[in-house]
Amino acid sequence: AKVAAFRSAFLTWYDEEKRLLPWRVNQEPYSVWVSEIMLQQTQVATVIPYYQRFMEWFPTVQDLAEAPEDKLLKAWEGLGYYSRVRNMQVAAKQVVSEFGGQFPTTSEGLKQLKGIGPYTAGAIASISFKEPAPAVDGNVMRVFSRLFGIGEDIAKPSTLKYFDAVVRHVIDPIRPGDMNQATMDLGSSICTPTKPKCEACPLQSFCLTYQQGTQENYPVKLKK
Ligand code: ADE
Ligand code: SF4
Repeated sequence: AKVAAFRSAFLTWYDEEKRLLPWRVNQEPYSVWVSEIMLQQTQVATVIPYYQRFMEWFPTVQDLAEAPEDKLLKAWEGLGYYSRVRNMQVAAKQVVSEFGGQFPTTSEGLKQLKGIGPYTAGAIASISFKEPAPAVDGNVMRVFSRLFGIGEDIAKPSTLKYFDAVVRHVIDPIRPGDMNQATMDLGSSICTPTKPKCEACPLQSFCLTYQQGTQENYPVKLKK
């Protein structure tokens, strides 16, 4: 009952407020993958033109698999962390040679590809294949730590598993990709690292720490 109301409030907000981003135009695993890799260490506004050019230069996973190295590095110039794009080409070759040109359709299968970890696998599986898989990063931990008053130390690698289990419980089984992306949007525009805009938050009535006035004490991040 309560979880159904939570999902409905979150998805209704997403339908009304979602950012119109170029990688949200279709749900193809190739385009979702390219965008998620670029977004790992780079902000949305910076990624947009890189993403558009990358998709023009390498419109399919086959094109990426066959891309000459100089063109590949040129496409990434300025984004940094070049191992990301090198791994992408290895993965593209895997898709072509081991999977007949089609991406694996489950998060477990996607994790077999070079450079795809739990976050990226969850994002692609939920957005492209509607698998109810979490995609947990720092933003997602912040949002859920505040919603449910979770005091686990987010600097600890094992905490990721804890949040993965929490998100798995609340993710919408029909629209898991939209729920993951709603969390990303909420974390970027409303449930921001400092001064969250709780007065504009669609989840206010579900948020434990808002009700306690302790939201800015979350997430808990202990110094190593
Ligand atoms: N950050 C990481 N993945 C994202 C996505 N799909 N949309 C917006 N921001 C993101
Ligand atoms: Fe974040 Fe505030 Fe919304 Fe809670 S009410 S989820 S702290 S923005």
